[in-house]
Amino acid sequence: MQPILVTGGTGTLGRLVVPRLRDAGCKVRVLSRRSREAGEGIEFVTGDVATGEGIEAAVEGAEIIVHCAGSSKGDEVKTLNLVRAASRAGARHLVYISVVGADRIPVRSFVDRTMFGYFASKLAAERVVVDSGLPWTILRATQFHDTFLTVARATAKLPVVPVFAGFRFQPVGADDVAARLVQLTLGEPAGLVSDLGGPQVYTMADLLRGYLHATHRRRLIMPVWLPGQAARAHRAGANLTPDHADGTRTWEDFLADRLGSPRVVPT
Ligand SMILES: NC(=O)c1ccc[n+]([C@@H]2O[C@H](COP(=O)([O-])OP(=O)(O)OC[C@H]3O[C@@H](n4cnc5c(N)ncnc54)[C@H](OP(=O)(O)O)[C@@H]3O)[C@@H](O)[C@H]2O)c1
Repeated sequence: MQPILVTGGTGTLGRLVVPRLRDAGCKVRVLSRRSREAGEGIEFVTGDVATGEGIEAAVEGAEIIVHCAGSSKGDEVKTLNLVRAASRAGARHLVYISVVGADRIPVRSFVDRTMFGYFASKLAAERVVVDSGLPWTILRATQFHDTFLTVARATAKLPVVPVFAGFRFQPVGADDVAARLVQLTLGEPAGLVSDLGGPQVYTMADLLRGYLHATHRRRLIMPVWLPGQAARAHRAGANLTPDHADGTRTWEDFLADRLGSPRVVPT
């Protein structure tokens, strides 16, 4: 059986994709920058998509590639390195995870780039996939609950917590995204598929209040007005996908699961 390569198979999303593929009877190969012990049905290959190191070995014999490796910057180059190697190796399906709003949030000014360069980098990476000559599928998801938890944990350390005025978000469970990604991976290349968003839209202040409530804290919340076109697009809802609110888990569900007992206060 040919392995399915999952880049980023150690990350928030990828580590939920990997067991789902294995449970579906697939052999899975995970690319990571650190070496790891193989598990049942899971092989690890060390490599770096930013430098290209180890990529040839990772793609060898993998007809299907799920590309989840990413960071806040430089996904275009990472994707290009992967695509080049995958094309040489004759891959027949490349599945890419992008973000809702990649095509609608303009990143032009210095402020846009500094605060929201991620969206431009995801759009550029999407274009690399589309132009790769490989059969492809792209799923755009809204931001995962885990992302907001990281933000909430960091900002709640401050006595006064800034939130972006007028911004709304539609957080989605990484597990819902993993389920959809696996379904797409096991299907035929489908091009750009329907977005996937969480079941509810929240203001940034609401998300933070939910976290403060779950962790029994009180903080002053201070709205901050962000300049720039990318921020304006956010205020207009370009990062939302109300027609595809298909995620099953709310922010409150996630907080209850993740933070567990009320006695647990994250640091
Ligand atoms: N988080 C969100 O809210 C969100 C929303 C929509 C879309 N997405 C997209 O979903 C994907 C996964 O996001 P995530 O939140 O799961 O990310 P994450 O938790 O930060 O994990 C990043 C993963 O990428 C791998 N990686 C990073 N740089 C790499 C490199 N140079 N070479 C090889 N592997 C590298 C890491 O592997 P090692 O550290 O083991 O090398 C890790 O497995 C990304 O493309 C992201 O843009 C995320």
